[in-house]
Amino acid sequence: MLSDLSRELPAALNRLYTARNEALGRGESIVDLISGNVNQHGMFFPQELLAQVMRAALDQARVYQPDSLGQEVARQAIADYYKRAGLCLPAGQILITPGTSVSYFYCLKLLAEPGDEILCPSPSYPLFETIGRVCGVKLRFYRLLESAHWEIDLAYLESQLTTKTRAVVLISPHNPTGMVASQEQLEGLAEIACRHHLAIIADEVFSEFLFDRDCLPRPASTAAPLIFTLNGFSKMFALPGLKLGWVAVSGDPEWVQKSLSTLELISDTFLPVNEMVQFAVPEIFLRGVTFLQIYKAWVKNCRNTAVEMLSQCPLLQLIPPSGGFYLTARVLGAEKDEGELAVDLLHKSKVLVHPGYFYDIPPSHLVMTFVQESQTLQDCLARLCNQLEEK
Ligand SMILES: Cc1ncc(COP(=O)(O)O)c(C=O)c1O
Repeated sequence: MLSDLSRELPAALNRLYTARNEALGRGESIVDLISGNVNQHGMFFPQELLAQVMRAALDQARVYQPDSLGQEVARQAIADYYKRAGLCLPAGQILITPGTSVSYFYCLKLLAEPGDEILCPSPSYPLFETIGRVCGVKLRFYRLLESAHWEIDLAYLESQLTTKTRAVVLISPHNPTGMVASQEQLEGLAEIACRHHLAIIADEVFSEFLFDRDCLPRPASTAAPLIFTLNGFSKMFALPGLKLGWVAVSGDPEWVQKSLSTLELISDTFLPVNEMVQFAVPEIFLRGVTFLQIYKAWVKNCRNTAVEMLSQCPLLQLIPPSGGFYLTARVLGAEKDEGELAVDLLHKSKVLVHPGYFYDIPPSHLVMTFVQESQTLQDCLARLCNQLEEK
């Protein structure tokens, strides 16, 4: 009665989440070092300011007059955001979406037929598996090299292309390694994209959170033939519940226009973005500046605390993250497999971290976020390091 999709979805919880649920059921308190939802860790866009902005937006949205690309004022504010970063991505080349996950869905629908392939980074953010399945698109993977600060193995990437490959996904800053792709790497990627007529889907949701540089190198500033730049307010302004994202399309003008027409058609079919939220976009950019500075400093501080503490743990080897909310650490001399280790850390240190295999990382790695309330972060990392040394 149901489609193949319903049979393909994972049936049971894995043992880590079963153990987590059992611990919560016993009334234990577990620190979640996986969720990148900063609201859960006490970080909020100023609530009174948000209320003012939304009240004004409500007035503007009173008469329902949708625009299939998204309201012009919102698209113009996003274009201005890129202009301040030295990038020309005009309002006419921007589509508003209800978040980056949906942006991915639109891009895959635009670029690939069922059975076509999209090349994704490995390690990989787990959402792709599901989006790929929902779209009937096959995922192939290119490598990030831990031995080279998780940089992209461009030669390997090119070797993974087939006649069915339609696009390469770039996540920079990357989840979960914290890698930020250099301009040189992006030029290399653009050159491969030109030679093989590939689109680049550039996921920049962590663009504001950079730890050792001021500006993010962006595929949209290269000569790649077709680039979809994805971002939104979820991470940028700690507003995941607002559900506001976008796709900025750039590259060869003919491909840009064709892509925009199709994206517009897909979006027009659903008109899924809340109108009031769209009218709030310019003021959130404008009046959110001070909050953004505080929020960025908080994330950087969390990152520095995590790097300092984990670097002192003799059993962990860490490549300090250059951006984003996550880090990946290698466990040295591990006797247990990493899945067991994560369950052990949950039971004994009361901390939820992920084993690397959830992200297709080779054995003996742990993945965690460092965005967490400061004292909680310090306490739980101390417990985690002690437990690793005790094992
Ligand atoms: C790399 C990456 N891309 C996209 C998303 C989803 O973004 P959104 O909340 O806008 O759907 C996330 C969420 O954690 C993410 O880590």
